[in-house]
Amino acid sequence: MKFHVLTLFPEIPRAFFENSIMAKAVDRGLIQYNLVNIRDFAYDTHRTCDDKPYGGVLGKRVPGMLMLPEPLSFALDSVGVKPKTERDETTTGKRRVIYCTPSGKPFTQDLARQYAEQDELVFICGRYEGIDQRIIDLYVDDEVSIGDYVLSSGEVAVTVVIDAVYRLIDGVISSESLEDESHSDGLLEYPQYTRPEIFRDLSVPEVLLSGHHEKIRKWRLRKRIEKTLLFRPDLIEKARDSAVLSEEAELLLKELENGNGSDPQN
Ligand code: ADE
Repeated sequence: MKFHVLTLFPEIPRAFFENSIMAKAVDRGLIQYNLVNIRDFAYDTHRTCDDKPYGGVLGKRVPGMLMLPEPLSFALDSVGVKPKTERDETTTGKRRVIYCTPSGKPFTQDLARQYAEQDELVFICGRYEGIDQRIIDLYVDDEVSIGDYVLSSGEVAVTVVIDAVYRLIDGVISSESLEDESHSDGLLEYPQYTRPEIFRDLSVPEVLLSGHHEKIRKWRLRKRIEKTLLFRPDLIEKARDSAVLSEEAELLLKELENGNGSDPQN
């Protein structure tokens, strides 16, 4: 998988690509990345990349600045991205152009899985008030939001999306690690403990020390349901609607809804 990141601040995503698990995945050849500085494609002496939006009236201008379309289109050209109407997947492989914006569709684990199946992802990092709509109309496949809040740095949002995607690529992390984690099957993850057995008077739950595989499995499922009910009842609704819960999970859920639950923090 190759990630292209078009940005005015390449040092922000670079830190992510050059550290920790990502750096190892790059070393092992599982991931490639290409940071493109949009300013390199600005055409005036000041290397301007932004300007005022149209739409001001009676001498009052629209607040904020927008990224200019030309430098962005040249940057897209430089990584071989053609306008949507001129693309041919047989020559480029599976590739999506993604623009992260608070006005996009929600980024979810499902979307991360779809992106992990592509050959290349091209990200546009917005700054200021965003980018000219014509770049979106011409080139962008997906406008994606990472949450209902506004960041000043599109690089941060893009890095979040890349993080969620690259770890799903075969060989980056073990498939067991992906199994029971939050959002893997519509439920949040169970609580985890490590050494020491007692920390500031708080003990590791006894069942986890029992070595009893079946009891531990049941305890974990129960904790996942308790936590999801408490923090994300919307996910329970969704899981029910799409019938992804096992019979056992459904039974536990009914029990907990009838008031037989415990505080998932304990
Ligand atoms: N850029 C700024 N805020 C964002 C958000 N919430 N999601 C995606 N991109 C963004």
